[in-house]
Amino acid sequence: MYVCICKQVTESKILEAVEAGHRDIDSLGATLGLGTECGTCRNFTSELIATIPVITSDRSSP
Ligand code: FES
Repeated sequence: MYVCICKQVTESKILEAVEAGHRDIDSLGATLGLGTECGTCRNFTSELIATIPVITSDRSSP
C-alpha cells in the first residue's frame, strides 16, 4: 500500500527504513523522500512509526 503518493513510498519501504534506524518523519524524509512534497502522508506515517516496536540488540537479558 502506498503511504506517500507523491514519492511512491509504500508501507513496506517505511518499515524497512524504520528497522534500519530511521524512526522519525524527518529521517524518513531524508532517506525516502517521504513527506517532502504535499505533506499529506506525514500524520499517517507518524502514527505508523508509533506502532512499530523498538528492537534493541541488548543481549544481556536471559
Ligand atoms: S503524499 Fe507524501 S508528500 Fe505528498
